[in-house]
Amino acid sequence: RKGKTPEEVVKKYLQKVKSPPEEVSPASDCSADESVKVLQTNVGSVGLFQDCTICMEPLGGPSGYKGPGVGPVSKAESVGRLAQCGHQYHFQCLVAMYNNGNKDGRSVQYQNQNQVQTCVRVRSPEADPDQKSVEKPCEEERENNPTSCLSLQCPTCKTIYGVKTGNQPAGKMEYHVIPHSLPGHPDCKSIRIIYNIPPGIQGPEHPNPGKPFTARGFPRHCYLPDSEKGRKVLRLLLVAWDRRLIFSVGTSSTTGESDTVIWNEVHHKTEFGSNLTGHGFPDPGHLDNVLEELRAQGITEEDALVE
Ligand code: APR
Ligand code: ZN
Repeated sequence: RKGKTPEEVVKKYLQKVKSPPEEVSPASDCSADESVKVLQTNVGSVGLFQDCTICMEPLGGPSGYKGPGVGPVSKAESVGRLAQCGHQYHFQCLVAMYNNGNKDGRSVQYQNQNQVQTCVRVRSPEADPDQKSVEKPCEEERENNPTSCLSLQCPTCKTIYGVKTGNQPAGKMEYHVIPHSLPGHPDCKSIRIIYNIPPGIQGPEHPNPGKPFTARGFPRHCYLPDSEKGRKVLRLLLVAWDRRLIFSVGTSSTTGESDTVIWNEVHHKTEFGSNLTGHGFPDPGHLDNVLEELRAQGITEEDALVE
């Protein structure tokens, strides 16, 4: 068996409590994350008269979750308190939520040859802030996101435990500098990002596994000012791409089409010299908004440095 069970992952994100009823063996391969303690919560702790906001049943009683994939659990470990934010849920509800959000677990990805293509990124050398000269993109196959822990997000406060990844289908991200200024950024050139995702078949991480998905409007061209902040946003978008967070598969709010590739929660500017759609320039707050949206996906400047 590769990796940990969902139960083991969820336990890593729970808080240590005084005199826990029983200990679990510490998980080993995510030991880098020292802040996460691997002990259960105590049934006797305060708050058990509240409801679990995942299933809306009292925390003092059993989980309301009745679906597959969640094993029985002892009374002693029936409630979990998340380590950083302290919000409490039924342990089984957390496991069920984790299973729902992570159908793209690594073992699945690696069994499927197609998915290894997911993070192919074409990097054109001139987009490197230091050397803005050249032309041909050099193709560089990226390994899939080498995160050792999968993520869980607190449904109450959105704190992310582990590294959040999405379900963006296989495709390419490419970028280069173009020698024109964007409205509102007269003092610098611009960065053009080109995303290309072909249509395909939905995987287990998508809404309708096995069913085709369409991909409209690709290649999609997007623009950033080639300023210090614009380049920072680019670095973080590259991380977001590797974590499969730029696009998703679902129903387009613009066209109403279902089972199609759609933008995820990070806004892009797709118009260069005009602003007919509202996704153009000028927009003074754009870069800060995007940084905030990336943060909500768990991506910050530190992630770009690690890259
Ligand atoms: N450019 C950039 N972002 C857009 C655009 C656009 N033209 N249209 C919508 N968005 C943003 C929305 O504001 C929302 O936050 O994408 C998010 C998801 O919207 P959907 O309409 O569901 O996304 P999608 O179907 O992927 O986009 C529709 O965007 O780039 C174009 O060619 C694409 O015309 C299509 C349009
Ligand atoms: Zn619950």
